[in-house]
Amino acid sequence: MDAKHYYNPKGEEILDEKIFGGSPSGFVDFNRSRYKWDSNIYNLMNANTWFPSEVNTSTENKNFEQLSPNEQSIYKLTFAQLSFNDSAQEEYLSDFRRLTNNRLVKAVISLQIMQEVNHSKSYAVLLDACGNSEEVFNLYKHNSALNRKNQRIAEQFAQYIDGGSVDKMLLSAMASVNLEGIYFLLGFSYIYLLGDKVPGARDMIKFIARDELNTHLPLFANIFKTIQKENKIQTSTIDSVYTMISDAVDIELEYGHYLLDQFPIMGTTHEIMEQTVFNYANDRLTKIGLDPIFKQSDTTYLQKLVTKHLEMNEVKSNFFESNVSNYAKSSLDLDDF
Ligand SMILES: [Fe+2]
Ligand SMILES: [Fe+2]
Repeated sequence: MDAKHYYNPKGEEILDEKIFGGSPSGFVDFNRSRYKWDSNIYNLMNANTWFPSEVNTSTENKNFEQLSPNEQSIYKLTFAQLSFNDSAQEEYLSDFRRLTNNRLVKAVISLQIMQEVNHSKSYAVLLDACGNSEEVFNLYKHNSALNRKNQRIAEQFAQYIDGGSVDKMLLSAMASVNLEGIYFLLGFSYIYLLGDKVPGARDMIKFIARDELNTHLPLFANIFKTIQKENKIQTSTIDSVYTMISDAVDIELEYGHYLLDQFPIMGTTHEIMEQTVFNYANDRLTKIGLDPIFKQSDTTYLQKLVTKHLEMNEVKSNFFESNVSNYAKSSLDLDDF
């Protein structure tokens, strides 16, 4: 590797560092940011810092044993899939980070990588307490629907990550918008539907969902919009963005329909599931500055469950209360546009 990769005294000024293309001098300077959203999101990520050991999982095994067989299957297949998402995201982020030129944006991605690892750790802690860690983490070997969802997500991550052009970088950012904004959502809502029956799982998911939806999704929506704003993007690339989110909707619904067909236990239907994923997909398109293309419905019960658990004031622990004011302040300006 060229030493200029680490230190380049003749490199560009920090305020000139774009996300794509350039030659930074090599400094991470939080006092001089080309964008406002990057340091705001960094602060919000820090304000939301949590550790799996703070979630009470002492009764998880007993609670799990009291679930119906269908509920147990939903629980296991949901965590089996969610845990893949975080594992894949950690590796993808390390690769995407290499495509990035702006050092502060890279630094925020570094913190996101740490949070994804924290999510992986939280699944291990929860499932260990539940007593089925090995079984759940190995389900992909035996369940073809789970294997297929994981495979399709991996293929979308891999498709453009080699970079080489700004258009490919934009599309690889879109893979992350899909992961943070689509692939987790039905899984989150399933665990919220189980709710009080498995408070350990529910509380763990609450914290993971806050990271994904309050900071990781805005981070990649801003990265996407900034790349688009700073570069000339081909029309065919935007067509590919629409293809990618349509695929994401299909990936999410395929697994959702499978679970509902196999384990019809809860207050949801195929129709509600579809409306939920379409609504989320429209919202994600709006967040990245594109027009929604899916059939829009009224906010569904599943969406309301996810939103309800995102509300910070619901969290009772002192640890989180101490962060609420930080959270409120820094959540004001996550978007420069
Ligand atoms: Fe995550
Ligand atoms: Fe994430």
